[in-house]
Amino acid sequence: MLQEYNPANAAIQVFVKDRLWNRAEAKVSVFDSVVQGGDAVWEGLRVYPEGLLHLKAHLNRLVNSAKALHFSHIPDFEFIKNAISETLLANSMKRDAHIRLTLTRGEKVTSGMDPRLNQMGSCLIVLAEHKKLVYDREKGITAICSNQRRNGPAYLDSKIHHSNLLNNILAKIQANVAGVDAAVMLDERGFVSELNDTNLFLIKEGVLYTPFATACLPGISRKMTMEVAESMNVKCVEADLSLFDFYTSDFVFASGTMGELTPLTEIDGRKIEREKGEALFNAVLNEYHKTIPSYCEKL
Ligand SMILES: Cc1ncc(COP(=O)(O)O)c(C=O)c1O
Repeated sequence: MLQEYNPANAAIQVFVKDRLWNRAEAKVSVFDSVVQGGDAVWEGLRVYPEGLLHLKAHLNRLVNSAKALHFSHIPDFEFIKNAISETLLANSMKRDAHIRLTLTRGEKVTSGMDPRLNQMGSCLIVLAEHKKLVYDREKGITAICSNQRRNGPAYLDSKIHHSNLLNNILAKIQANVAGVDAAVMLDERGFVSELNDTNLFLIKEGVLYTPFATACLPGISRKMTMEVAESMNVKCVEADLSLFDFYTSDFVFASGTMGELTPLTEIDGRKIEREKGEALFNAVLNEYHKTIPSYCEKL
């Protein structure tokens, strides 16, 4: 599913470092560490009529990712919130918008890998776009399993939400070449970790299962799904799950800020059953939607 260019975003204002710029002028330096090494952290947030969903959790993850990468300059929540607020106001965005929030290590005094060359402070980018939910929930999505493994703590801890996304991008290219929507990525042991851009759940005999968050992003929507299930007295288990468990489950769905909860209809050519798990999925989705306003924060 290829996202289309939305002309409503032609004249958006983007916050870079310390002020707003018109879309065409919004740029970072060629010396910025995100250009030199993908050395940045990021978050994707959605704007609902009731406010920004899970704002605090997203800011915490951004700041903790920057801390783990030893950024020497991390802006405080007030600065980030003001930048987001200014951006949304300038673009009159009150709903159906997506924010790509990026914090780069900043500009280097000369090109090179050493973070000590970053002496100009970090660079915050608030890119807000008019954007509907990315996936078509009615149609669902299809996937193949990629041979590109998802990073775990042995290589680059998946808890760090960094912009060095090449292994996920390679997996997505495999999905594109195969003519499907997304790629299932395995951990180094061969267990399923997540899709290239969202977390995964399966339903089997009335129980929700999701991979341990050891080699996947501990998604905020994943956590919300687990909490929603708990509030409904539906068991949700974190486990080592193999492709077999997904192929033979009663329902599979993805969770993520950009698409909320989205069913998978096929993995590696195996049709995923829907009938047995659909009622439970719909009930969880319904509760998920009801819960959204209580997790939204207005700026
Ligand atoms: C690799 C990956 N997995 C899962 C997710 C979903 O996370 P969240 O629910 O916090 O949006 C994302 C979102 O950025 C992601 O990049």
